[in-house]
Amino acid sequence: MEIKANAGNIKMWLETINTFNSTPDFGTTRVLFTDEEVKAREYVKSEMRKLNLQVHEDAIGNIFGVLKGTRPELPPVWTGSHIDTVLNAGMFDGMSGVVAGLEAVRLIQVNKLKHERNIVVVVYTSEEPTRFKVGCLGSRAMAGKLDAEAAKKLVDDGGNALYDVLQKLGFPVQDFDKVPVKKGSIYAAVELHIDQNGVLEKAGKPIGIVKTICAPSVFDVEVIGRQSHAGGTTMEDRQDAFMATAEIALVLEQLGRTSQSEYTTATIGKVQVIPNAVNVIPGKVVFSIDIRDCDYDYKNDLIAKLKNRIKEIADKRNVKVNLTQYNNDYPMKCDENIIKKLENACEKENTPYIKTISGAFHDSMLVGEFAPVAMIFVPSKNGISHSPEEWTNFADIAAGTDVLADTLIELANEI
Ligand code: GLV
Ligand code: MN
Ligand code: MN
Repeated sequence: MEIKANAGNIKMWLETINTFNSTPDFGTTRVLFTDEEVKAREYVKSEMRKLNLQVHEDAIGNIFGVLKGTRPELPPVWTGSHIDTVLNAGMFDGMSGVVAGLEAVRLIQVNKLKHERNIVVVVYTSEEPTRFKVGCLGSRAMAGKLDAEAAKKLVDDGGNALYDVLQKLGFPVQDFDKVPVKKGSIYAAVELHIDQNGVLEKAGKPIGIVKTICAPSVFDVEVIGRQSHAGGTTMEDRQDAFMATAEIALVLEQLGRTSQSEYTTATIGKVQVIPNAVNVIPGKVVFSIDIRDCDYDYKNDLIAKLKNRIKEIADKRNVKVNLTQYNNDYPMKCDENIIKKLENACEKENTPYIKTISGAFHDSMLVGEFAPVAMIFVPSKNGISHSPEEWTNFADIAAGTDVLADTLIELANEI
């Protein structure tokens, strides 16, 4: 490509999206269907239109910006990511992939590159599980794993069902059954994302080509003990919900650390202690567990071991533990054909790369259930993400965008 990606455009889009932020004093927070997130959606749609894309949305709010090819009847090529964030996040996780998609379709047009297939920039709804506990809501629904009935049951901490929130915002929930995407109807999907591990920075390489995306299982855990007096109740007589939680936490960590799998992680990120007072033994603790692996069987093996250990801890400490599992996603192997094209594009652009795995999940994990997928990683400072410290140089996203645009063109002309 003669004209290369412009880091200034990427900076401008990222900084503008970042103005839609409910915690400007501490990182970026843009939770699904809050005012900030809805405004960011409107902004991205308007930028898509400026780039001559035809914009439409589905019933769960996935946004599609279509750049018409010469044979629009062929299965299209997708690229994109998400614009919602975790609490107090950075300005790159997700958004980089969306603006790289915008810049790639701009490049394809200014370089007058012909393409037979349509090229579509997709903004997936709620990749982050911040509001509804489960992530990848948009791609999950497209993969046929979240229907209208499930959306009625999925509630946020305020008791609002996803289905009702969509309806209130005017999304055509009556068309929920049209969201799933038929296998074979999408030719390929390529997502650019920041590296969230630091592997690229350590290797000193500007591009990571992802081989496998690890997949999560998320649980809510409710530990019920007996609330009583911190001074009056002897150490022997306690049914302390917090101490049981602490023991479960350490067991979880140990299982994660000693796993034989190539990549296992185990996290407790959300804890609520009840009543949360200095001189009261907690009667109840509610917390989350997030377990990931690149190997589905190892993940389930770890979950089974954890359940046994939890039972032992509950019996020993005389507490009751209720586990609710929200999902058990499949790790996704990236497509060899797209990987080859990404390697060729890196060589063409003289951009060194490594192959890597993604410990984080991405919409590509679920898109991979109905289309061949692959991912491009670009370096992230110290590999820090899900944090206000998250940082990626705009020039690095631009270099990744050149590789992305080359690859999209190759795929869009492969018949
Ligand atoms: C998504 O951001 C994840 O938690 O991996
Ligand atoms: Mn994230
Ligand atoms: Mn992300």
